[in-house]
Order: sequence, then C-alpha cells, then structure tokens
Amino acid sequence: MSHPYYTDDKEDKLITEEAVREGENIFLPKPARILQVQPMARTEKQFRLAFTDGTSIAHQPGQIVEASLFGFGEIPLGIASSPTREGYFDLVIRKAGRVSTALWNLNEGDTMYIRGPLGTGFPVEEFKGHNVLIVAGGIGLCPTRSMIEYIEDRREEFGRFVLFFGARSPKDQLFLDDLARWRDGSEWIEYHETVDQGSPDWKGNVGVITTLFAQTSISEDYRVIICGPPIMYKFVIKELQKLAVPDSHIYVDLERRMKCGVGKCGHCQINGLYVCTDGPVFNYARIKNLEEAF
Ligand SMILES: Cc1cc2nc3c(=O)[nH]c(=O)nc-3n(C[C@H](O)[C@H](O)[C@H](O)COP(=O)(O)OP(=O)(O)OC[C@H]3O[C@@H](n4cnc5c(N)ncnc54)[C@H](O)[C@@H]3O)c2cc1C
Ligand code: FES
Repeated sequence: MSHPYYTDDKEDKLITEEAVREGENIFLPKPARILQVQPMARTEKQFRLAFTDGTSIAHQPGQIVEASLFGFGEIPLGIASSPTREGYFDLVIRKAGRVSTALWNLNEGDTMYIRGPLGTGFPVEEFKGHNVLIVAGGIGLCPTRSMIEYIEDRREEFGRFVLFFGARSPKDQLFLDDLARWRDGSEWIEYHETVDQGSPDWKGNVGVITTLFAQTSISEDYRVIICGPPIMYKFVIKELQKLAVPDSHIYVDLERRMKCGVGKCGHCQINGLYVCTDGPVFNYARIKNLEEAF
C-alpha cells in the first residue's frame, strides 16, 4: 500500500491477506479461559488467559487482540505479556463503557473470546544490540510490558535498558508487583517513575513524565518506544530531539477507535493509514508529517 507520507521498506503486508492465504477466518474469535484475575488500580484489572484449544497466541511484543463477549461486543486491547512467557497471555482491562465493563466483570474460570494477534509489534530485531528507552504513560504501560518482559528474558541481547513510567497519581499505578521489582535496583533495568499528583505517603518524583529525563543520561544512539496519552507524545519527542535521538530511532504506539482490527471497516484510519494493520506501532520518522497522527 503506498501512502504520500508513509513508506515502508518492507513488502507491505495486511494481516488480512496473510490470514486469508492460510485459510484462517480472521473474523472468528477463539475462546480463551481466564486463569487468573488480579485487580490493579481503581478501574483496571489484569487477566491471565490461555486458549481452550491449547494453542499459543504466538504474538510479537506490541501486538493487540480484539476481545469480545457475545451480546456485548468487541474491543481492541494490547497484549501485556511477552511471548517468552509461555502457556498464557495477559490483558489489562480498564472499565470504560459497555464492552470493557462486561469483560472487566468476568471471573477466574470464565471464557473470553479473542481474535489475534493483530497489527504490528515493536521492532524487536532492530532493537537488539542497542540501548533501549521505553516511555510509558498510564495504561500505555500495558502494551510496553510485553517488551519489558521480553528484554528481561533475553537480557544479553540488548544494551542498557531504561524505563520511564508516569501515572496520574500513586493510586493509578499499574502492575504494582512489577514496579516493586523494578525499583529494587535490579541490574537488568534502570527504572524511573513519576506521578502528576502526589499523596501524603508518596516519596517519589512529582511532575510530568519529561521531568524524568533529568534523572539519567540518554544519548542519541538509543532506540525508543513511546506509549501513552496523546498529549505526551509531542513533549517526549521534543526532549528526545534535544538529545539528538534521530526520528528514525523513535517508535510510537498509537491508539485510535477500532472496530474490525483487520483493515476492513476503516474506523481506525489516519489520513488513509490504518492503525490496526499499518500500526499500532509506527516509526516516528515515517508518520511525523501525517496530519492528525499527533
Ligand atoms: C490499539 C489499542 C490498544 C488498546 N489497549 C487497551 C488495553 O490494553 N487496555 C484497555 O483497557 N484499553 C485499551 N484500549 C482502549 C479500549 O479499546 C477502549 O477502552 C474500549 O474500546 C472502550 O469500549 P467500551 O465499549 O467499553 O466503551 P465505550 O462505551 O465505547 O466508551 C467508553 C469511554 O471510553 C472511551 N473510549 C472508547 N474507545 C476508546 C479508545 N480506543 N481509546 C481511548 N478511549 C476510548 C470513550 O470515549 C468513552 O469515554 C486500547 C485501544 C486501542 C485502539
Ligand atoms: S479497525 Fe477496521 S480498518 Fe482498522
């Protein structure tokens, strides 16, 4: 697919064409059993799932699924665990409206219906051998956790690894067990966190996520992933540009309203680009001039 602002060196490949060739029905969800439910923050829960037919989801870090419940509908969700962790996959669901609330109310042993993995993932191979910075805001920690766990499990394949995480308040932080481990001063990760608004018992940084750049040193050779609320991208990219990180080293994970997830309905279009099949992970150099992307 050619596009005036977006060109990809790789042969363009819609997930639809690939799946149709393999005879797979891309519209048919597969049942997945809920192995574990863990409440996380006020409106988020972590669901650990496995397909009932015993197959693996076989995803790349950064890919998404469409999760559904009959009679309610279907919503896109990022996969929050790494493919290196076998036998299950994690999803985090924020209670937002009709469909997400119906899924959020499910319990251990219940069944959820899944299509995917869908879309593009993070460029894992391209990142190998390089220093990596991940900047995650709010629920943006969920899809990036798949990459964080991947780096943890394949640590020798990457250089220095720095993670910035920003949440609205301490009560909005996600993956509390993971955060405790990351804060521990583990050698595999350099973790920095902030909240927009502190609380009486919060001893950490208070301020927007870009304030974390002052706590460490990031050089132009870093490969960077950014995932968070739309307002965050512009300011984080400005900081990276001050540090001379080339636009082509920056990857953004974009969220748009999605329906089909496979390039058919057009709901997710940004000026002719389909977030569901061309993304949700995009190289910043390739979409920076795309109107409406940021
Ligand atoms: C690529 C991608 C990855 C996502 N990953 C996750 C995830 O890992 N975990 C998670 O909880 N949610 C994720 N979302 C958002 C999730 O899909 C929406 O919250 C969900 O579609 C809301 O549907 P609903 O029927 O429950 O609510 P609706 O009734 O449709 O909407 C309820 C509220 O949520 C808002 N909303 C609806 N869709 C979106 C959206 N796409 N983005 C932001 N706000 C929205 C509406 O404006 C409204 O305020 C992701 C979305 C995309 C596109
Ligand atoms: S969600 Fe239907 S085309 Fe992208």
